[in-house]
Amino acid sequence: MLINTRQCYGTVAIALHWLMAMLLIGLIALGLYMTSLPDVGFDKEKLGLIVLHKECGILALALAMVRLAWRVGNVLPELVGDLPDWQKVAARFVHLCFYGLMFALPISGWLMSSAASIPVFFFGVRLPDLIAHNDYQFQMLVDVHEWLGYVLIGLIVLHAGAALKHHFISRDSTLKNMWPRATR
Ligand code: HEM
Ligand code: HEM
Repeated sequence: MLINTRQCYGTVAIALHWLMAMLLIGLIALGLYMTSLPDVGFDKEKLGLIVLHKECGILALALAMVRLAWRVGNVLPELVGDLPDWQKVAARFVHLCFYGLMFALPISGWLMSSAASIPVFFFGVRLPDLIAHNDYQFQMLVDVHEWLGYVLIGLIVLHAGAALKHHFISRDSTLKNMWPRATR
């Protein structure tokens, strides 16, 4: 089934969930690695990785738009029945924060590049600058982008931990409902 039902996520939502999970975790790892490289002479490896990070980051933004449209246009599967109210609210709140971060991270990255007057490319097409050159805003946006990244890491740990707890301790269908059907 391509679309969601009240009981289960559909194939499109599942594919977008796992594709984006891999992409976002990859972008965090790449972001942390490339910024840890020394600046001396601004070596080619560091520059190449930053270009790759920016290109994949814009891909994440494009996928986030598709995902949000799909999410709004589909029914939302219910959470497993016997959860206390605070866990239902916490789970939905974390999902909402993920949607916010899926937009805030790439947009802050794009704003950061614009403030530094460094162009952003997507599949060879130069994207427009979002703001004019401004060194103070650049420094601020570097910090914002970094802290949003840390918030995303924290929420992923919480969210994945909760999913694994449901699967291995509560032994309910939470993780199965988000798992690719063919491998269930
Ligand atoms: C969902 C998408 C994205 C995620 C999860 C992400 C994550 C990260 C992380 C974790 C870092 C390391 C932060 C640090 O330690 O300083 C980073 C750095 C960076 N990101 Fe992203 N990023 C995303 C999208 C983008 C986009 C779209 C751009 C630009 C178009 C971008 C440009 C940069 C740049 C230039 C740095 C290096 C900043 C510095 O010099 O400290 N990112 N990103
Ligand atoms: C970057 C990493 C991740 C992000 C951004 C993310 C985001 C989301 C979002 C927004 C939802 C709500 C459904 C939707 O709108 O698609 C969701 C559901 C879910 N995610 Fe993740 N996820 C990530 C990683 C993971 C991982 C690593 C696991 C498992 C270990 C996982 C397991 C689940 C499960 C089981 C659900 C269904 C929850 C329910 O309906 O009760 N996710 N995820």
